[in-house]
Amino acid sequence: MTLPSVLITRRIPDSVLQRLEPHCRIDLYRGDGAIPAAELHARLSGKRGLMCLLTDRVDAAVMDAAPELRIVANIAVGYDNIDCAAARARGIVVTNTPDVLTEATADFTWGLILDVTRRVSEGERLVRRGAWRGWALDFMLGTDLRGKQLGVVGMGRIGRAVAARAGAFGMRVAYSTVDAGGPFAGPHGEPYAAMCLDELLTSSDVVTFHVPLTPQTRHLVNRRSVLRLKRGAYIVNTSRGPVIDEEALAWALGEGLLAGAALDVYEREPAIHPDLLRLERVVLAPHLGSATVETRTAMADLAARNVIAVLAGGAPLTPVPA
Ligand code: GLV
Repeated sequence: MTLPSVLITRRIPDSVLQRLEPHCRIDLYRGDGAIPAAELHARLSGKRGLMCLLTDRVDAAVMDAAPELRIVANIAVGYDNIDCAAARARGIVVTNTPDVLTEATADFTWGLILDVTRRVSEGERLVRRGAWRGWALDFMLGTDLRGKQLGVVGMGRIGRAVAARAGAFGMRVAYSTVDAGGPFAGPHGEPYAAMCLDELLTSSDVVTFHVPLTPQTRHLVNRRSVLRLKRGAYIVNTSRGPVIDEEALAWALGEGLLAGAALDVYEREPAIHPDLLRLERVVLAPHLGSATVETRTAMADLAARNVIAVLAGGAPLTPVPA
């Protein structure tokens, strides 16, 4: 019996390749960066499985390049890079990698919150350019988190994990959901305040975004909503770049309406809005939310287990919601 062929669009850990090897013939793209669209089309021909990344656009035309395709396994929890309706219409299963990256992403979000409110990256840049003149009582002051409100937009797994860490920093939690879930409470039963987005923006000291990118969440922060934010608030985004209109954010920061922003994701990755690059009170991370050895290995492994299950005729472990 010939094994089914699977295209993998980026290098993955050896342990995951070894898991796949007994079950399929692997065609691994070894280039640096994302596989070019034309090569994705060409190499997908005859494949029954595709393991891809959020940098690969998998639309109807891509799927039509492989009439035998049975599964698209995204090595990411977000799957806005895949046309799920087109997949459904073709009987192709789409899977993502929830759960395994929740804690790493929540930790990283707190890294960004602490960085931007205590000016760590800004201070580091100053030290490196030789501009530090020594300790002073009023030098590079940040903001305390204790006693302040963390506004969490989106209470999925990652939003809840971020909220669960707030008590360690003495912050109270308010949240706003896009899908009306809840009510939610903290690890010790402490109540979180449910709010509409407008109320959350006007009352929170730090607002952090944990929503999937959909037509409803695109530009949740825009020229209008940015004006609703509390003066001196901080914005943090580890979800998807287009949730924030970068032009509007840069304008609000430039006008001094916000104290700062910490971003891990961008509207046109890897390009960054030039005004954001110029602003000191902005922390810019290169999409590292889930980037630990353990977590990235677990993500690739979960995608591989989905491929193996589906190509063997079984049910996927983590299909995307219908
Ligand atoms: C990363 O952004 C992911 O969706 O896993």
